[in-house]
Amino acid sequence: MTDPQIVLTERVSQALASAFGPEYADADPLIRPSQFADFQANVAMSLAKRLRRAPREVAQEIAGQLGDFPGTVEVSGPGFLNITLDDSWIATEASGMLADARLGVAQATPPQRVVVDYSAPNAAKEMHVGHLRSTVVGDSLARTLEHLGHTVIRQNHIGDWGTPFGMLIEHLLDIGEEAAVAQLEAGQGTEFYQAARAKFDADESFRVRSRSRVTTLQSGDPETLRLWHVFMDATIRYFEKIYGVLGVTLTHDDIAGESMYNPMLQQVCDDLEAAGLAVVSDGALCVFPPGFTGADDRPLPLIVRKSDGGYGYATTDLAAVRHRVDDLKADRALYVVGGDQALHFRMVFAAARQAGWLPDTVSFEHVQIGMVLGKDGKRFKTRSGESVKLSDLLDEAVERASAAIADRGYDEATRREIAHAVGIGAVKYADLSVSHDSEYVFDFDRMIAFNGNTGPYMQYATARIRSIFRKAEADPSSATGPIRPDHPAERALALRLLGFESVVRQVGELCEPHRLCAYLFEIASLFSTFYEECPVLRAEGEVRQSRLALCALTLRVLETGLDLLGVPVPERM
Ligand code: ARG
Repeated sequence: MTDPQIVLTERVSQALASAFGPEYADADPLIRPSQFADFQANVAMSLAKRLRRAPREVAQEIAGQLGDFPGTVEVSGPGFLNITLDDSWIATEASGMLADARLGVAQATPPQRVVVDYSAPNAAKEMHVGHLRSTVVGDSLARTLEHLGHTVIRQNHIGDWGTPFGMLIEHLLDIGEEAAVAQLEAGQGTEFYQAARAKFDADESFRVRSRSRVTTLQSGDPETLRLWHVFMDATIRYFEKIYGVLGVTLTHDDIAGESMYNPMLQQVCDDLEAAGLAVVSDGALCVFPPGFTGADDRPLPLIVRKSDGGYGYATTDLAAVRHRVDDLKADRALYVVGGDQALHFRMVFAAARQAGWLPDTVSFEHVQIGMVLGKDGKRFKTRSGESVKLSDLLDEAVERASAAIADRGYDEATRREIAHAVGIGAVKYADLSVSHDSEYVFDFDRMIAFNGNTGPYMQYATARIRSIFRKAEADPSSATGPIRPDHPAERALALRLLGFESVVRQVGELCEPHRLCAYLFEIASLFSTFYEECPVLRAEGEVRQSRLALCALTLRVLETGLDLLGVPVPERM
């Protein structure tokens, strides 16, 4: 098995070593898909300089060392190696892939323990489309890494602590627990917060009560903690309702909110002080990690204890780094969080490295999430300027999807089921198909379109293959091949299917699910061409068998890929 790009990389590496010596075995052969052949290797050009020889000559030499290999090589242009694989090799590999439950995706050796920090909405504020995007991207990374054989530890770092909780608890008492719970569970956290805030600004006695409530909360007063739990439980029930609608894999056990780190914060500060890394500056305890300066070239502080004695976001994140390294035994951690927090994470990771809490062998990465914009190019808001309630947004997606399939003659229950998958899939796919750190415009019409690189188009591609099998009165799982592509459209599809493993690995390594979207879109397009040019149901004998098997392999790659993205796949559409 199997992925031609990986196979060729290995082959050309060996050839490099035998042509120029073992020290060249590590040079990247730069294998890329080619317009003129199946692949091209571009390594000769870059190596020529190092070897002080003509690139074409270097290319010739590599070609000469490729030895017995299932294809043909040609030197072209300034020194490209154009590589064309034998049809029989593609046939064998594609048939083998179909027989393999993992579709050629090898288990990672050694598997890593990967913490994925994602979603992380705040209790005292609204859960907005930025959190939605973090949730969708993070979930797809978690699924992909797990599929690659890693141990994934999901961490939902929700904002469940801080001074606003004084006024939130007082407001909860004012309106009554039952009414408060109902409001929070319905996703009206923003309204709840705004009502509390308005009273806080207008009413002196409410301010006094709120402040003293912060103190009783911090001192661990049991009744105050109970009220905090009432508030948090209702809020989390709303978050979890959204997770359910989205079909994300986050569970209740993955919640590791800011409050969880409270008992560790003092120690964080003490240890930093003892190590001489934290100093008091303007009354606040600060770390100045090297290499961070402000506009005036003065070192930038990371505040770990405010002048009023309170701890902040950075302190909590430092405690979280320690927890993730020491207790969760992370080899790697991904923080799927808005790009506007880039400086925060760079400083936290730098401070943690300086303190020796984050060994060099452990990789902590900020997977930056770009802003979701409205059609006006500004941060996505409702017409009245408020932030959009997520449950409303998802409801609207499902409604629009339902309208889009209204004329297809499904009974009500089926239509609702399909509309759910299409609507939610469209929103998720829109988040995933652009690179995670770029901004994009939230546009229902575009994401629910049945054409282009959209969720509905990808779902439709799978439904279409399923319908071929219904017409053939066969089950996709009974199509066992062998696959023998001879038409160019078949060959192109089969060859690209073999690239599945590379793409999945890249998504795991680079944290870029949009690569998988682009790949699946390519597969769906190649399938369309194949299906237009090569009759399947009207073919006979071995050709029919081979083509049905190619359909089955395409279906499995699409379905597995969409599952790694977390995009649901309806049976029909
Ligand atoms: N609650 C934060 C926010 O909404 C995101 C938390 C991300 N995770 C972390 N470890 N800081 O901005």
